[in-house]
Amino acid sequence: MRIPSFPTALYRQLGGKIPSRTLKLKRSPLVVSRQVRWNSAGPSQKEITVEGKTYKTDSWMNTPSSILDAIPRRLHTQPDHPLTITRQLIESRFPGYKTHNNLFPIVTTQQNFDSLGFPPDHVGRSRTDTYYVNKDTVLRTHTSAHQADTFRKNEADAYLISADVYRRDAIDRSHYPVFHQMEGARTWDRRAAEKQGKTLAQIIWEDVAKIPKHDVKVEDPNPTIHPERNPLQEGHSADETEAIAAHLKRSLEDVVVAIFNAAKTASDAGFAAADEPLKVRWVEAYFPFTSPSWELEVFWQGDWLEVLGSGIVQQSILNHASVPNRVGWAFGIGLERIAMLLYSIPDIRLFWSNDKRFLSQFSASSPIKRFVPFSKYPACFKDVSFWLRTLSSAAGGASPTPAPGASTTASFHENDVMEIAREVCGDVVEDVRLTDEFVHPKTGRRSMCYRVNYRHLERTLTNEETNDLHEKFRQQLVDKLGVELR
Ligand code: PHE
Repeated sequence: MRIPSFPTALYRQLGGKIPSRTLKLKRSPLVVSRQVRWNSAGPSQKEITVEGKTYKTDSWMNTPSSILDAIPRRLHTQPDHPLTITRQLIESRFPGYKTHNNLFPIVTTQQNFDSLGFPPDHVGRSRTDTYYVNKDTVLRTHTSAHQADTFRKNEADAYLISADVYRRDAIDRSHYPVFHQMEGARTWDRRAAEKQGKTLAQIIWEDVAKIPKHDVKVEDPNPTIHPERNPLQEGHSADETEAIAAHLKRSLEDVVVAIFNAAKTASDAGFAAADEPLKVRWVEAYFPFTSPSWELEVFWQGDWLEVLGSGIVQQSILNHASVPNRVGWAFGIGLERIAMLLYSIPDIRLFWSNDKRFLSQFSASSPIKRFVPFSKYPACFKDVSFWLRTLSSAAGGASPTPAPGASTTASFHENDVMEIAREVCGDVVEDVRLTDEFVHPKTGRRSMCYRVNYRHLERTLTNEETNDLHEKFRQQLVDKLGVELR
């Protein structure tokens, strides 16, 4: 199953409503890495050390070395990196918010899921979607993993957390298994309001009045509270919720307007969006950890584009974090998507480039300029078709014996194909698309055909290189997934 275009979409899926998925793969871990040290003889030792922290691995381990190698990069803190500049631009619209930019990415499933109210069978917990180190430890899939801890520390009324996040996902020009998010939250203390002899709603409305005004057209057709689609939380009054929602929406509109104005005013006629008036709209959403919830969409080059997810923090999270008197909102925004819009960066892989022709185009001290692609190296596509292993075909002896560690069941998930492509080809793979799928009417076996687009961003690939990569990819599909090539 392909995950819809924006990361928040994953979390919008209602808990319990799990799309039908095939069985999980039971592969052995692939990890061996430069930055990541196996603590003795090798993978059999079942322990890894990442930046001085040691973790026991188990059969849940599905994090390849290429992913662990990304941990030290911390692109969102690299000077003059477009993600850093984007982060700073957003931070500048939230004066007084406490910023956290160095929270460690390996977290517990408690932090990433349980603390946020994800039900035990939520699709986000699946090994096909999430990188596990062991059963209880994952690479954070979103910055919300730090919400409960940050609320518990209670160091400030408001905070911003920017960080690298990790998800197993499709391969195309806007998806990469490591990307960056910013999480923001603002809470108010009920008792402090009472002490001032005011209601909480009054205090919040006073804060709303302090947010800079804008004149951008905003569509917001839905009521703040909808009993079925976007319910009021128990213990929250409608007045408070209206005030918090207004503060949340005005604050985030301000950010989006600032971002798009920065892009427009800083670049001359060359900027694609300069002639289009900015249009934004709020749509209802669902997250296990907020209610009511919304996404903000921006009209961009003919399409509505989700830019962030947000909502009123589930009171249970604040209660468990020992701040039961606090009430407030939270949002999460994907930094790559914003940076790609800001600079017209055409491919998400570019953020990882160390090529000067990329990096030298960005500077925190000069106005935002449209990115000028330094190359158009040719792409080359190749197809691969295969029969999936099924229990019946295995029993019939028609398919080759799978390698040790390969699935012995009929399990298949597209994200495993994606991961093998990344493992074999690294950033040379531009996208991988399912082009055909059918079930043989007699045998019931399923056939899949994927088209792999190969392109190096910094040079031309030779035919030989592409053929080699493709051959390795095909072989790995057989070895790791037990498929039969056609
Ligand atoms: N964590 C959510 C995601 O990654 C975004 C979000 C953050 C939504 C905070 C609501 C509140 O999709």
